[in-house]
Amino acid sequence: MPGISLRSFCKVNLCLEVLGRREDGYHELATVFQTVSLADTLTVVPTAGPDLLRVPRGGAPAGPDNLCLRAVRAYRNQRGWPPGVRLQLDKTVPAGAGLGGGSSNAAATLRALALLDDQPPSDQALHQIAATLGADVAFFLTGGTALGTGRGEKIERLPDLAGLPLVLARPRLSISTAEAYGMLSPEDFSDGARARAMAQAICEGAGIEGIAAHLHNAFTASLVRRWPEVAEVLEALRDAGAVRAEVSGSGSACFGLFPDADAAEAAALRLQVLGLWAVEVQSVNRGWEVVDEAADEAYG
Ligand code: C5P
Repeated sequence: MPGISLRSFCKVNLCLEVLGRREDGYHELATVFQTVSLADTLTVVPTAGPDLLRVPRGGAPAGPDNLCLRAVRAYRNQRGWPPGVRLQLDKTVPAGAGLGGGSSNAAATLRALALLDDQPPSDQALHQIAATLGADVAFFLTGGTALGTGRGEKIERLPDLAGLPLVLARPRLSISTAEAYGMLSPEDFSDGARARAMAQAICEGAGIEGIAAHLHNAFTASLVRRWPEVAEVLEALRDAGAVRAEVSGSGSACFGLFPDADAAEAAALRLQVLGLWAVEVQSVNRGWEVVDEAADEAYG
């Protein structure tokens, strides 16, 4: 059976508020998610043999805990299909960066299987499977611009902000999401009004300045206290011309909003010269995209 190749986009959180800690150990969120054009490529080929995953260029664990393999097992539990898969994951998105790379890969795996399946589960069933894999996996099933609440798994689509020029930049630092949540204190918690105000502004057609005015991240204060290099990256983005800059997710990646694509390109180059990982991206209106509908064996 032929397989399929998908591009699996990453995200930034244009606004991320943490409302408080829940009984189940998770935190209640109000966040505005936005997928951006930096992507990994995932090839999924159903087979009769055991599940196999190849990650040729590092950046993700290739063992059974890899989110793509967990997604395959969760899908199979629901559908009794496929018997096995061969996966190849070509990583571009850095891990431990707050860009949702692993969650996006898990969602792309579910989408790929549903596209190959002659009796795919409903979108609602796919969302239920996604939510068991991680808090923001459900978001990536659709992507684009969305308000996330609950653990981040309750998704309300917003009008697309596609084409927004951004630069992603990060210090040489990977941050565990669980550790970043553990560093929060009650002063970092807020009531969700900022995320709702940003969602409202987006619904009313706000431009760059309007979006920039609402950027916020509950993790920034505690991350900057512990890792000054995060503040340095935010400062470097502003110095390079960002209208505003913020941390994405629980870090360490930061992003800047730029007035146009030329300004973003020049800024990314300037940050690279400083020795930072930096890349110019655009916001996109989806979480995944088919690149090859008849992908062959991922293994040459
Ligand atoms: O769901 P995900 O695997 O991305 O979450 C990783 C960790 O981040 C969780 O185990 C939890 O410690 C923390 N987390 C949280 N509240 C959320 C999302 C994640 O406390 N809403």
